[in-house]
Amino acid sequence: MSKSIFITGASSGLGKAAARLFQSKGWNVIATMRQPEKETELRQLKNITILPLDVTNGQQVNDTVEQVANLYDIDVVLNNAGYGLIGPLEAFSEEQINKQVDTNLLGVIRVSKAFIPWFREKRKGLFLNITSSFGLLGFPTCTLYSATKFAVDGFSEALALELAQFDVRVKIVAPGGIRTDFAGRSLQSGTHGAYRQLMAKVAEGYSAEQVANYASAEDIARVIFEAATDGQDKLRYVAGKDAIALYHERTATGAEAQLERLKSAFLF
Ligand SMILES: NC(=O)c1ccc[n+]([C@@H]2O[C@H](COP(=O)([O-])OP(=O)(O)OC[C@H]3O[C@@H](n4cnc5c(N)ncnc54)[C@H](OP(=O)(O)O)[C@@H]3O)[C@@H](O)[C@H]2O)c1
Repeated sequence: MSKSIFITGASSGLGKAAARLFQSKGWNVIATMRQPEKETELRQLKNITILPLDVTNGQQVNDTVEQVANLYDIDVVLNNAGYGLIGPLEAFSEEQINKQVDTNLLGVIRVSKAFIPWFREKRKGLFLNITSSFGLLGFPTCTLYSATKFAVDGFSEALALELAQFDVRVKIVAPGGIRTDFAGRSLQSGTHGAYRQLMAKVAEGYSAEQVANYASAEDIARVIFEAATDGQDKLRYVAGKDAIALYHERTATGAEAQLERLKSAFLF
């Protein structure tokens, strides 16, 4: 029997690439998104069910998960929906801060909590949670994004320990830069006069040349597929050359040494 995956934020980028890849491998895909009426590409593919879901809407999350879990035998939940709130902390309103946490962190918690009883009863299931290299190390202008992604990392690690007794697994996929529309459609930025120099320095790291070296959404989707199918009891999959290099630096030199290097790189 074919396996089934439930994906959040499948309207574009990584979520859509994952939907296409799993479908091409014979999986049954439940692709959820905020505006399913706009989706045309995934509708052409067989064995893909498109459903509306905004991960900040708790009632909709619970209703959708119940509907899906009654109809399908879900094997994998891919918590992918998210966006970046990038800029100095001082630039952001309480509302912007709450929305970032509500989407990137509470969204993952809501969807996971709704699926746990189904997985626990069946003694199977895998949560695959998308974080970021900014969920592994701090970076200026990423305070809020990092707060949510580090939190998803910690949430996932603790949940993996809590659910191991039921044979339910939790894994993290931490990508570096991906050539998706993240920086266009999914990035909310803020500026503040006191941080102009820092912002300019950070922007140097997002040059066209650097972005051209990012992984494609398809590259990262392949790592997601590997994490879903390798049968390994491994917690964290760091994906993309840039993320692997930064994570290697952190583990090889230690977090403090990496922090010192980054601090001096951003001092004027
Ligand atoms: N691109 C990168 O460089 C990069 C690097 C590391 C990690 N990531 C992570 O990868 C994941 C996917 O991002 P992407 O690069 O594929 O960007 P993307 O193409 O902009 O996709 C983001 C997806 O999240 C969805 N989304 C946002 N808020 C939502 C909500 N409240 N409820 C449901 N869906 C929501 C968007 O839906 P709408 O179409 O409705 O807006 C969209 O489908 C995110 O978690 C992101 O943090 C991205």
